[in-house]
Amino acid sequence: MSHFSYQDGVLHAESTPLPDIAAAFGTPTYVYSKAALLENFAAYSDACRGRDALVCYAMKANSNLAILDLLAREGAGFDIVSGGELLRVMAAGGDPGKVIFSGVGKTEREMRLALEKGILCFNVESIPELHRLNDVAASMGKRAPVSLRVNPNVDAKTHPYIATGLKANKFGVAFDDALETYRAAASLPNLDVVGIDCHIGSQLLDDAPLLEALDKLIELIDALDNEGVHIHHLDIGGGIGVDYGAAGDAPPVPVGDYLTRLFARIDAWRAERHGGRAIKVIFEPGRSIVASTGVLVTKVEFLKPGAEKNFCIIDAAMNDMMRPTLYGAWMDMKAVQPSSDVPVLYDIVGPVCESGDWLARERALAVQPGDLLAMMSAGAYGMTMASNYNTRGRAAEVMVDGEQGHLIRRRENPAELFALESMLK
Ligand code: LLP
Repeated sequence: MSHFSYQDGVLHAESTPLPDIAAAFGTPTYVYSKAALLENFAAYSDACRGRDALVCYAMKANSNLAILDLLAREGAGFDIVSGGELLRVMAAGGDPGKVIFSGVGKTEREMRLALEKGILCFNVESIPELHRLNDVAASMGKRAPVSLRVNPNVDAKTHPYIATGLKANKFGVAFDDALETYRAAASLPNLDVVGIDCHIGSQLLDDAPLLEALDKLIELIDALDNEGVHIHHLDIGGGIGVDYGAAGDAPPVPVGDYLTRLFARIDAWRAERHGGRAIKVIFEPGRSIVASTGVLVTKVEFLKPGAEKNFCIIDAAMNDMMRPTLYGAWMDMKAVQPSSDVPVLYDIVGPVCESGDWLARERALAVQPGDLLAMMSAGAYGMTMASNYNTRGRAAEVMVDGEQGHLIRRRENPAELFALESMLK
């Protein structure tokens, strides 16, 4: 169920009218629904109940401390890609023992921090990274738990910028080199080979590529078992897509259905070939946990009719939400209080000095300056990808719980944006 709905002609987050949030906190503002967040997480945790499984939320999708805190309380682990993200997990009270560290370019400093804090696993993506991690662990007198991110060469059928599982991508160890790389890892004295990992891409509407990747991981686990390298966990990554509402888009596979199929496959394998071989299953979902929990509320500043196009100029811009201009992503734009006037086709653009500063194109809207719009399903990769381009402070973030809106990040003010800078003496 959507936690953003019209009540008496006004778009609400749960039981809170969005105009009240705009009046209290200004615009543009990201507004999240706590109930939606918990519901999305429960789709994973319910399907994992009674199993040896861990949901490591990919916090790059939205790393606000309030969101991390709520998920940590539900038992989530976290998939991080930087030392900064690890510090955020800890600031939110998350357990480093449930953290996995992904990414192709981990620095020595980040490795040291993660070893100090005792994370669950490093998802290693190359041989040089194995050596660096081994050296850092040795210098600390520790052993680092590692998993290899294997690139299964599966076509995830998504936007090229967010497909990661093909040979042409920078990610992971090529499937054909995986065994060799595992042997190298197992031979290093300060590494513990504990898992296998993959992540083939994001915004996948169908789970067939994920199940195909699973089969390839299972094939490798069998081959490793034959060599006496016994791993303890299988991490299938994230990637399940969400419904952005674009006309003609297939609906994404429901999370519960995907997990049912995945566990059925794993159970069959365990029973057939291993008579109950134990394996922990890890997931790294980002978007499917947070996208539908958030909207970006923005105000119409001006309407600008043109010979070829009409522009609706709003107070949010590409710096607040990069997805449309970066990926050509279609994001739904709703009037917060729809009027019955005749709609006009607009390109919805921000104030940033770039022609690429658009949030939506060719949308039929009946709006006036001062009206509020809501960009829907903006909870993932919105705020985390925001920048200060044009010296624009980043938007405020508000979490709604029933009838109450809580400010979970205040708006940045311009003076803060240059506070770290200094002039030559
Ligand atoms: N694990 C790894 C190693 C990843 O790189 C990612 C996302 C995830 C998990 C989570 O994937 P998800 O469940 O969210 O699909 N900015 C883009 C998406 C980039 C995804 C990057 N990696 C967008 O706005 O569409």
